[in-house]
Amino acid sequence: MIAIDGPAGAGKSTLAKRLAKELGYIYLDTGAMYRALAWKAIVEGVDPGDEGELKRILPLTRIELIECDGEPRVLLDGEDVTSRIRTPQVSQMASRISTFKTVRDRMVELQRAMGSRGGVVAEGRDIGTVVFPGADVKIYLDASPEERARRRFVELKGLGKQVTLEETLAEMNERDRRDQERAVAPLRKAEDALVIDSSSLSAEAVVERVMRVIKSTMPAIQ
Ligand code: DC
Repeated sequence: MIAIDGPAGAGKSTLAKRLAKELGYIYLDTGAMYRALAWKAIVEGVDPGDEGELKRILPLTRIELIECDGEPRVLLDGEDVTSRIRTPQVSQMASRISTFKTVRDRMVELQRAMGSRGGVVAEGRDIGTVVFPGADVKIYLDASPEERARRRFVELKGLGKQVTLEETLAEMNERDRRDQERAVAPLRKAEDALVIDSSSLSAEAVVERVMRVIKSTMPAIQ
């Protein structure tokens, strides 16, 4: 089990996907699960502050992470929502609804079920601290706010979204603050996590560094 945590835009998804490929592990994108629920809440007109309503829709919600032609896809109640959940509106909604214990308890339950047989690279905000505290290797991936906003901006532009760099930075700062300050399972570095600042590192360099750590920590992987 490899756990990767960190703020938005630090490069967690790129790292987690590459590690999963390299190790033949399953890629577990926990943020995509919060995003899928957020999408449902938006579609159903649920107020992001209404924990009772979120509690009501949770048991009626099926979230599945699958792989199709080598690409991770997110299914919400059987429907592919992969591209719909990558918008600033869904990012904010996901960050809001993820402050509630009711929501987190259900997501953690699903995540632990998915990781029960090991062989998983999981990324999120509370993986090394709450979801899989016994993970073999824990990485806390960070980068400067400017660099993280720039990366997110390029990614959103690539998806054809109409956004500015300033909006992206503001949206990201607001979300990071909420994710770090919430009472339940806030984003923080696990005590035994290795911190990597990816601001001036290429994706390849980060993967290489983490692979070295994995090989030195997990004798079965060489
Ligand atoms: O990683 P991401 O940007 O796709 O996550 C979207 C939001 O979901 C993030 O702002 C906070 C929430 N989240 C969380 O609370 N815990 C996780 N393990 C993953 C995501």
